[in-house]
Amino acid sequence: MAFYYTEPSHTFNEYLLIPRYSSKEHSPQNVSLRTPLVRMKNGEEPQFTLNIPLVSAIMQSVSNDKTAIALAKEGGLSFIFGSQAIEKQAEMVSAVKNYKAGFVESDSNILPRQTLQDILDLKIKTGHTTVAVTEDGSAHGKLLGVVTGRDYRPSRMDRSLLVSEFMTPISKLTVGKEGISLAEANDLIWEYKLNSLPIVNEKGELVAFVFRKDYESKKENPNELLDEKKRYIVGAGINTRDYKERVPALIEAGADILCIDSSDGFSEWQKETIQFVKKQYNGRVPVGAGNIVDKDGFDFLADAGADFIKVGIGGGSICITRETKGIGRGQATALIEVAKARNEYYERTGVYIPICSDGGIVYDHHITLALAMGADFCMLGRYFARFDESPTNKVLVNGTYMKEYWGEGSSRARNWQRYDSGGDAKLAFEEGVDSYVPYAGPLHDNVQESMHKVKATMCNCGTLTIPELQKHAKLTLVSSASITEGGAHDVILKDIHANRT
Ligand code: IMP
Repeated sequence: MAFYYTEPSHTFNEYLLIPRYSSKEHSPQNVSLRTPLVRMKNGEEPQFTLNIPLVSAIMQSVSNDKTAIALAKEGGLSFIFGSQAIEKQAEMVSAVKNYKAGFVESDSNILPRQTLQDILDLKIKTGHTTVAVTEDGSAHGKLLGVVTGRDYRPSRMDRSLLVSEFMTPISKLTVGKEGISLAEANDLIWEYKLNSLPIVNEKGELVAFVFRKDYESKKENPNELLDEKKRYIVGAGINTRDYKERVPALIEAGADILCIDSSDGFSEWQKETIQFVKKQYNGRVPVGAGNIVDKDGFDFLADAGADFIKVGIGGGSICITRETKGIGRGQATALIEVAKARNEYYERTGVYIPICSDGGIVYDHHITLALAMGADFCMLGRYFARFDESPTNKVLVNGTYMKEYWGEGSSRARNWQRYDSGGDAKLAFEEGVDSYVPYAGPLHDNVQESMHKVKATMCNCGTLTIPELQKHAKLTLVSSASITEGGAHDVILKDIHANRT
């Protein structure tokens, strides 16, 4: 006879935290959000630790090199999406590893024969006001000039005016020579009162920009996640099909950590993939696996050698797996059972394997709930898709700015490897949707605010670290009536925010 759970499975929204005694010491500035990223033996330090408990989802619409750099600055980690050609993914990984803090590759570039209208369109698309005018319109073409907001007045100028007619030409620009240090670049910025300094090579080709605001923000990032050579740490998604070719290319490009990206991790395919990575690199390259939603799945991947294990099936915002296939489990229940299995495994073997709650985080307090339920860190897709740095277009929909966000199981992503269960089958049906999410501005501002909320709640729970929260949190299930009571009610709101994360 089939096995039945006697209790229904629950989601984050059905739980609340109960405050515990907090002393004067329990204030947000005393909270540490450091958390292990990979397995560790009793008493030993893990090979990698996160400074905040956030990683970005292995998705085309979420984790490119820009998200990875922005998130590593905050102390979190991105897994560059694997549903792309091996060379392209490796290029993104090396872009993160070769990124020189403060030297930014230009993402707004234009040809001199394009028009003011093109500049305005580009500004909406990238959100940036500094545009490089290059001979071939690329980020590394010969630099002919720069356009910033000071060069045009849209209300007074014809939109068909050519860029070459109103740009600030190279002859009038202050530029830095390739090889200049960040400190020297900043001296020029201050001396000439610039907002940005283009850096060019001997041939006059654009290498990068240094922005005044970036120098200032560098000082604001005490949590940066860096390797021993002071480069940003970056992860990469892999699949169980082409790993023998993909993994070496990613490691060669500098990937620090890998994660198998699959909707169902309880499989022989995952075990083989983990064992390949372990053998090939003598256990030096960590690899995460998943997703699973119960103790059996956890024990299987733990024994297979996974360095962290992702929990969650069917809870993602763009996910329709539960509707199409009838598999999955309420995220809170899955997490609670897997955290218990993780603790038992630790008791039994002396090996602690971090677990990652993947998908379904809607409000910031869901992050705190996930940690309290035993997650060591959370993976988020929708959350990061909303920011300037995510790879997708910013578009105006009914007067509101949105970012595009699509699932890896949607036909748009064409990520067959994540869903086929063997053989060469193509995606037979969709498990994800193509959608919009409200644009929310820079990653930095949002992550700072979210982490501040997490810290404040941890203080209410009388805890200063994530392990303390996991150990001492008091949680309660709530009735549907009290969920209604939890929002503003019986009042008429003056201001309705579209984005309530
Ligand atoms: P979100 O943070 O709720 O948007 O969920 C993101 C997570 O959803 C990812 O990390 C994946 O585990 C999962 N996911 C991504 N694409 C799909 C899909 O197309 N179908 C089902 N799940 C998906």
